Amino acid sequence: MASTLALAGCVAADEEADELIAAATDATSLDAMLKRRISGEPLAWITGTTRFCGLILQVRSGVYVPRWQSETLARTAAGLLPARGTAVDLCTGSGAIAAVMQAARPEARVVATEIDPLAAGCARANGIEVLIGDLDDVLPTELVGTVDVMTGVVPYVPADAMHLLPRDVLAYEPRTALDGGPTGLEVVTRTVDHSTKWMAPGGWLLLEVGGGQYTEVEQLFRRAGYGQIQILEDGDGDPRAVCGRHEFAE
Ligand SMILES: C[S@@+](CC[C@H](N)C(=O)[O-])C[C@H]1O[C@@H](n2cnc3c(N)ncnc32)[C@H](O)[C@@H]1O
Repeated sequence: MASTLALAGCVAADEEADELIAAATDATSLDAMLKRRISGEPLAWITGTTRFCGLILQVRSGVYVPRWQSETLARTAAGLLPARGTAVDLCTGSGAIAAVMQAARPEARVVATEIDPLAAGCARANGIEVLIGDLDDVLPTELVGTVDVMTGVVPYVPADAMHLLPRDVLAYEPRTALDGGPTGLEVVTRTVDHSTKWMAPGGWLLLEVGGGQYTEVEQLFRRAGYGQIQILEDGDGDPRAVCGRHEFAE
């Protein structure tokens, strides 16, 4: 099976074969799963789960699969969240980032938003409190000025670069999860601008970015009043997220 997967272009063929075997109930279902994987369908949709920061998360068919490249952002956010603090994860998808924060800080309040009801249902199945709607529109007003950590792996691929994504991503994963508008930074810019009203004094904002976007996003952070800016690298050492602390004028 591993050699079939390798021939189909799966990079981690041995591990994928193990996961498919573990998820299959019998030889017939294993064969059907293998066919789906060879056609390019995400492994997590076939097995129904994925591993993220050591957590096993449910991922339903049609929902963006959390990427290992987002793990540094998730772990950093969890580390910045006070034990009984408040966190918001915008565009939560399956709830991966929110789940990491909640697991690390069980007594914290972690609230997420998501525009796609299918993804929101998946995040709820992962134990996350999710509000369905656009970005921060649906957050309760009681959270104004109280958020210690806000995270977002929001769509950031420029519309005219969407065709450069891997073929399987384009064929299967939802465009709304990826397309960041003409510049790629439409949702990121809105997030930075809207974030400040929710921040507790000294609250942290962490947003994932694509290759080369971090300098522009750092400027967006600075203009919105964020300091102590760090560029977080993913496991490959590539710049992957911008993190900053909201600084109130004295
Ligand atoms: C790149 S995925 C990231 C999901 C999750 N944070 C993760 O890392 O696995 C972006 C998610 O944002 C959702 N989304 C896109 N635009 C949105 C918006 N304006 N408001 C709320 N959610 C949105 C998509 O449905 C998708 O689930």
